[in-house]
Amino acid sequence: MTVSGTRRSSAEYGHPPPSPADGAPRKPLREPFGRIDQDDALRARLLPFCRLRMGEVWDDPVAGHRVGVCDATDPAQVATTARGVSPNLCIADPPYNLSLGHRSGAATGMMMRADYEAFTASWLDAVLALMAPVASLYVWLGADVRDDFHPLPEFVSAMRARADWRPRNWITLRNQRGYGTQANWMWIRQELLYYARGKPRFDVAAEYTDIPKVLRGYYKQVSGRRTENSERSKADTIRAGNVWVDVQQVFYRMHENVPGCYAQKPLKAIERIIRSATSEGGTVLDPFAHSGTTLIACERLGRRAVTFNNDPIFAEIAMRRLEHYRATGRAGWQCANPFPEDLLAGSDR
Ligand SMILES: C[S@@+](CC[C@H](N)C(=O)[O-])C[C@H]1O[C@@H](n2cnc3c(N)ncnc32)[C@H](O)[C@@H]1O
Repeated sequence: MTVSGTRRSSAEYGHPPPSPADGAPRKPLREPFGRIDQDDALRARLLPFCRLRMGEVWDDPVAGHRVGVCDATDPAQVATTARGVSPNLCIADPPYNLSLGHRSGAATGMMMRADYEAFTASWLDAVLALMAPVASLYVWLGADVRDDFHPLPEFVSAMRARADWRPRNWITLRNQRGYGTQANWMWIRQELLYYARGKPRFDVAAEYTDIPKVLRGYYKQVSGRRTENSERSKADTIRAGNVWVDVQQVFYRMHENVPGCYAQKPLKAIERIIRSATSEGGTVLDPFAHSGTTLIACERLGRRAVTFNNDPIFAEIAMRRLEHYRATGRAGWQCANPFPEDLLAGSDR
């Protein structure tokens, strides 16, 4: 029997097409700008194009999504932005507070440990207060080996203090690209912690990958007959389990790429979480919207997203990404500028 989940092919996620058959060189692609969080001049250029200011919220008239400019650590602002909703699922991707390859910035953050702990406690208090009594929480985190694996232990300990939320799993996403030196194992992982309050839905169909099951063996007697594992299994592909090796990191050639948003999560990973934890019509909260991946995933899967960012530029990008998706069917811009009016102003430097 094959489990009929809604498995999606690589092509559907906009992975780069194979090289032209005639061997003709591919047209070089170039992103219009680098990281928005690190470029003050670029930020000054883009801010006038943003519809929302701090504390403001956009209610989507088409599917009921909500996007706001809101500080996740401010309980009053968070409550106002999420008024009247009781999400079944929260997907949080806060700044990791680590320097990747000796870089840092607003999207990964870089603050003193004590400040980061206070930041974590504040956003957890503000956000968890909104959640439905029975709900799932997924949190993306890093762990800096040069800093005693910060912030992972601090986060785990913050959750221990919130006893109604219980750990359910620890997923590792295997990146294709890593960082490190020849003198150590390359660092290719991102952590995804899964907590639950009560016993929320878990749809195992969401777990099946496109990877065929090839290993045979594991014989077992069933009703007096010796059976082999593939006869007993529910699907002909393997389950993702808690080490995800089948998710392509977003890079500039993919259609889902959003220029300027280097911390963007792959749509495939976010859709997997949403399909496992919610049914159609469910509400998903994402307090760190950035490129709006959760918003697009909800739109594609018929869920409602409530999402915000404390930076008006990222809130604007999330809204534009939704509008762009509705107009073109594309989940991102690849290397095109999400702010075409910036180009018209002749300032695409
Ligand atoms: C790691 S990124 C999230 C990436 C997102 N999951 C995606 O796929 O695009 C973290 C985001 O959190 C935002 N952020 C940082 N501090 C915040 C705060 N106090 N309130 C809301 N957003 C914040 C940053 O501006 C950044 O855009």
